[in-house]
Amino acid sequence: MLFRRLILHRPLLQRVSRSRSTGGRLVQEGPGLSDFLQKSAVPKLDVDLDSVQSRLSGMKYFIETYGCQMNVSDSEIVRSILHENGHVLASSAENADIVMLNTCAIRENAEGKIWGRLSYFQHLRRERKSMLGNRKIRKALEQQGVSTRSKPFVGVLGCMAERLKDRLLDEESVDFVVGPDAYRDIPRLVDTVSSTGQKEANTRLSLEETYADIAPVREAESCSAFVSIMRGCNNMCSYCIVPFTRGRERSRQTNSIVREIKQLIEQGVKEVCLLGQNVNGFHDSSRESAELYPSTTYQAAKGFSNIYKGKSRDAPGARFADLLETVASLDPELRVRFTSPHPKDFSDDVLSAIAKYPNICKSLHLPAQSGSSSVLERMRRGYSREAYLDLFNRAKEIIPGVTISTDMITGFCGETEQEHEDSLSLMEQCAFDQGFLFAYSLREKTHADRSELMSDDVPEEIKQRRLQEVIEVFRRQLQLRNSTTETFQCRLVLVEGHATRSTPESPMLTGRTDGNKRVIFPAHNAVLPCGSVGTESVKELERFLESEARAIKEDIGRTEGEVQPGDLMHALTKKLEKKIYTLTSRNNYKNVVVQKHSEEEETQMNFRPGQYAAVFIAEAEGPTLRGTAYAMSSMVQWRSRDDAL
Ligand code: 5AD
Ligand code: SF4
Repeated sequence: MLFRRLILHRPLLQRVSRSRSTGGRLVQEGPGLSDFLQKSAVPKLDVDLDSVQSRLSGMKYFIETYGCQMNVSDSEIVRSILHENGHVLASSAENADIVMLNTCAIRENAEGKIWGRLSYFQHLRRERKSMLGNRKIRKALEQQGVSTRSKPFVGVLGCMAERLKDRLLDEESVDFVVGPDAYRDIPRLVDTVSSTGQKEANTRLSLEETYADIAPVREAESCSAFVSIMRGCNNMCSYCIVPFTRGRERSRQTNSIVREIKQLIEQGVKEVCLLGQNVNGFHDSSRESAELYPSTTYQAAKGFSNIYKGKSRDAPGARFADLLETVASLDPELRVRFTSPHPKDFSDDVLSAIAKYPNICKSLHLPAQSGSSSVLERMRRGYSREAYLDLFNRAKEIIPGVTISTDMITGFCGETEQEHEDSLSLMEQCAFDQGFLFAYSLREKTHADRSELMSDDVPEEIKQRRLQEVIEVFRRQLQLRNSTTETFQCRLVLVEGHATRSTPESPMLTGRTDGNKRVIFPAHNAVLPCGSVGTESVKELERFLESEARAIKEDIGRTEGEVQPGDLMHALTKKLEKKIYTLTSRNNYKNVVVQKHSEEEETQMNFRPGQYAAVFIAEAEGPTLRGTAYAMSSMVQWRSRDDAL
């Protein structure tokens, strides 16, 4: 058996290299140490293929990613670095030689999750160690070339690694610690840990590192991709740990960003989300860029100030508005989003660029943090409630139809009931489209922690009560807003795939609108073909859908009292089909897509991920919209429909 398995090593190697060239798809798993642990006290004489492969070409690794999108993007960079060094992806943490936790430190509860995972790995390693104490098992494993080291090696990466360094190294379960600017060093650290058993750390922050030359290895094939354009944050908001864990702001050069996005377009990606801790603080001051943009200087939004006054701020070079224009011009079919911005860097130039390019999504994240000017001052945000509201209104004016999301913190140092009321009234007034709402969590080292003028003096239950009140206003306003501005409207949806609520009996697709609202709709019905958007028949169809929707809603309301979620969507989808047949025969459409759900053709659906669907929105329930797709489209065609109306 041993012999037979070892002869297999050549195809195995081929499999590994194929996996690397395809961006690191999973290597098929053979039995691992866990199989011996769980299934039998007398191990099977069966070689652990993955272990053989590991020794031939590196180790099996697994990354768990916590926190923000930037960490998702960083894990893609780490994957690329590991693959370059011959390591391969394992199917689970339990099957891996190395497990890395890419961590977040923004609030205490984010760190709590990581401590929980570390205890789990500690437990796992102890269990394995005691198994290896069994001489028979150990010998059998050694004979078969299965590693008997106490695995997996555990590495802590990211913000928590940067913040806690030595405290993490003191943990028995942690073998190495790597800060966000030291990912290139991971292969060396892993080598040392595995060959010497010694603990290792690299938490040096850098003024230059942007990982610009590393092609990220994305987890799954998807129609959207994150593209990191800058790192770090100079803002020093008084509650925030990010400037300490991520270091100073630095931007990638425009040409390397463009190169990456062009490749993504070639691979079929339809949406890019530009990422950075202070994304609209992007500033490419490289010589090349300075020659192209010689006379730009830093400009904050009206009424906002920038706490960072470094000279380099005013150097020539491309700014965020310039980058947006460059990226949007690459392909009119590519949707462009970005996160996470600071309101002070929404100059009118940025707002105008968003308004000008149809493929830049009309969706802004405008983190307010508080509705009270005095709290904002203690937070060192650089603006007042009035300045924020001015910007909010200017964004709505310059970018018609824009959706706006926010972040809010309740119970910051010294927050009074009146100051909290100001946050509630801001939530009422703005009726945000999305909200990321948090109770304040004190972070060591921050200005709020060190200042003698501030203390974390709002009791936890009051923070939580205020948070619930903010959530309640947000939800109520969102429902109202979605019901008034989204229902009975036609939206272009970029299809992502099956909805989580999809069932074989009632298959549903999901995607997002330009305004970043999640939409679900039935996967099987008739839709007009691509190219029909903008025609008379589409306009007729849209008018039909709207009048039918009103009639059905009234009818259901009369006969059944309340309209149940999904009722209108399904009733409308049925009506739509007949109408589409009529339109098709009248107009002699050749490629009308008439696909119906049948047991045998379960996978058949109107749209594939990455296609654009014209959807009539029938209902709004919380943040989710429900509708019915009536036509295929492209972004350019959708624009011509807008022009035609
Ligand atoms: N406590 C609570 N929320 C915080 N945030 C940042 N630091 C803290 C903290 N110490 C929130 C802010 C920020 C978002 C990413 O996390 O709202 O915009
Ligand atoms: Fe933290 Fe403020 Fe920087 Fe955002 S802008 S990462 S809240 S310091």
